[in-house]
Amino acid sequence: MSEAPYSPVELLPGDDAVVLLDQRELPAQEIYLRLTTVEEVARAIAEMAVRGAPAIGIAAAYGLVLAARKGADLVAAERLLAGTRPTAVNLFWALARMRRAAERAPRSALADVLAAEARAIHGEDRDACRRMGAVGAALVPDGSAVLTHCNAGALATGGYGTALGVLRAAHEAGKRIRVLANETRPYLQGARLTAWELSRLGMDVTVVTEGMDGHLFSRGEIDLVVVGADRVAANGDVANKIGTYGVACLARLHDRPFLVAAPWSTVDLACPDGGAIRIEERPATEVTEFRGVRLAPSGVPARHPAFDVTPARLVSAIVTERGLVRPVSAGELARVGGAADPG
Ligand code: MRU
Repeated sequence: MSEAPYSPVELLPGDDAVVLLDQRELPAQEIYLRLTTVEEVARAIAEMAVRGAPAIGIAAAYGLVLAARKGADLVAAERLLAGTRPTAVNLFWALARMRRAAERAPRSALADVLAAEARAIHGEDRDACRRMGAVGAALVPDGSAVLTHCNAGALATGGYGTALGVLRAAHEAGKRIRVLANETRPYLQGARLTAWELSRLGMDVTVVTEGMDGHLFSRGEIDLVVVGADRVAANGDVANKIGTYGVACLARLHDRPFLVAAPWSTVDLACPDGGAIRIEERPATEVTEFRGVRLAPSGVPARHPAFDVTPARLVSAIVTERGLVRPVSAGELARVGGAADPG
């Protein structure tokens, strides 16, 4: 299995800087940002230089390492990072794990312990993606046309990807698959990032707009849907990029499987159902403008909920590194989750 020749986020040796591939600039330019303070990392997360649930958690963990190296107040640093993006639970999961590591660490070794923990979070996510790929690839038939929404690739994770990891693993196993990448209004993660990643991998990818999905389903041109997740509630409801729910409804109407691929760090058993998930509202200008060019008449307001919730009953299966959750239910999630997360 090939590793991507790029990484969304790395902590440099010496732990004094975090390097981010600025996803706002892709695919036009590959620009790496060198960040040396937790404030810069928090801004990069909020402004989406780094995005995707697992990658946000990893970046936040590395941000805490920068704070620890500078002897900064870790409680304040954690609060700053926690205030960046509310929906992806990986952020809060990573921060909680780092807090527990700090509580266990001797004062003299605090920064070293946190750096090791952050690198472990990163490495474990990369491994989880590879295991999800192996589990999920078996559900992708040879010759199928697969629709994906947003970007759940190496860019959104510690490496390899969740939904795109499943598709990569199927491709690497020799299956011929055609990927339809939803453009993903308004931020265009699909057109910009998914298309960039899959084309670099030599995979067959075609960009479509969400408005085309119904037509393509009705013509039998989509066999399967695979998406990632930002939070999976205890009952199996899934929060993911705005537009995902509509795709799931179409998949059900046309009797096509709708798969979610997510590492266990995205499962929030403390959250009873999708109604309890806080949905991020992003600036309306991300809808009314593109790269500073006004698309809607000035003075007309716009809405921008950045995520939606797909109810568990519309999800055919959840692919995790711990195995397949199918059927998607509270009982099956608890069974696959097994013993409480030791992290
Ligand atoms: O707003 P974003 O780009 O951070 O949203 C990302 C998504 O919704 C992804 O589908 C999700 O995080 C899964 S990433 C493996």
